[in-house]
Amino acid sequence: MNYAKISQVAHYAPSQVVTNDDLAKIMDTSDEWISSRTGIKRRHLSRTESTSDLATKVANQLLKKAKISADALDFIIVATITPDSMMPSTAARVQANIGAHHAFAFDLTAACSGFIFALSMAEKLISSGRYQKGLVIGSETLSKVLDWSDRSTAVLFGDGAGGVLLENSEQQRFLAEHQYTDGSRGDSLTCGRIGLSSPYSEKEAAAPYLTMEGRKIFDFAIRDVAESIKNTIESSGVQVEDIDYLLLHQANIRILDKMAKKIGVAREKLPANMMEYGNTSAASIPILLSECVEKGLIHLDGSQTVLLSGFGGGLTWGALIVTI
Ligand code: ACO
Repeated sequence: MNYAKISQVAHYAPSQVVTNDDLAKIMDTSDEWISSRTGIKRRHLSRTESTSDLATKVANQLLKKAKISADALDFIIVATITPDSMMPSTAARVQANIGAHHAFAFDLTAACSGFIFALSMAEKLISSGRYQKGLVIGSETLSKVLDWSDRSTAVLFGDGAGGVLLENSEQQRFLAEHQYTDGSRGDSLTCGRIGLSSPYSEKEAAAPYLTMEGRKIFDFAIRDVAESIKNTIESSGVQVEDIDYLLLHQANIRILDKMAKKIGVAREKLPANMMEYGNTSAASIPILLSECVEKGLIHLDGSQTVLLSGFGGGLTWGALIVTI
């Protein structure tokens, strides 16, 4: 049998840090409002680096840690809602930047669930037995799709990238997963609409900026996402108390507080880093995973059980449980 395992993790964020107090100088907001509502204190915002630049930094770190050359890679998937361009894909740019001559590469768009969906797809590629090694990266420069005159969204997001090297394994490491989409609720979180504009079409307005009905998304996270996490744990056969950590998309600290209660786990099992990065969409889970490894919470030696869960635009949501 062919199985997949996460063998390396890495993350990168632009060096420019913007605090809540910095934002209060350019819009009608305050550290008090942002911190108490969301837990966010700072975010990293790109001055010059594109989404593919951030992803390339992560890809190079992963190769260095694994001591392998880019030629050894079979595929590269970049989960993003802020690609440099629709074509070439961000993943194709990364493939060129690192010289991964044998890898096919593509982007996957599922907003804040992007990394979970991409990791699930990558696991199937490796389990097929046809591919041995691939990179799965979440990378975002959300700062370029924010409406900086809208304080209700501009304060929430940040730029960054994180990723994993996925390799073949002799043991089963991916224990369970559940993934969902409800397009009928898609209007509550939107970004990057491209309107028709040919001489033969009715003209449609483009809507490049991110819009969000915050309260609806909050309720969706507490209800649907918590339910899906419980379902995933149940179907895995793993007892909830045997899960070492639950790494959830980093949108809001209050969501994590409520989620811990609903799932019935100690709050300490849900690490948080939105205070440092804000919401980085597809990048948030791999950045958190990489930081947990750096801090020695997660050992990458196959001895721990971790649940990963993303939720966001689409609407999309999903969870998977891995031995890591
Ligand atoms: N500073 C000061 N006041 C503000 C700000 C701000 N930055 N933004 C909004 N306000 C005001 C509003 O105008 C409103 O004022 P009013 O009562 O006078 O009208 C008041 O604060 C309350 O606004 P709400 O939107 O009701 O605030 P809420 O408590 O719901 O918090 C928040 C908003 C933080 C967005 C919350 O709803 C949330 O976290 N939602 C979930 C977000 C999420 O999970 N996203 C994940 C997916 S993201 C993705 O997929 C890309």
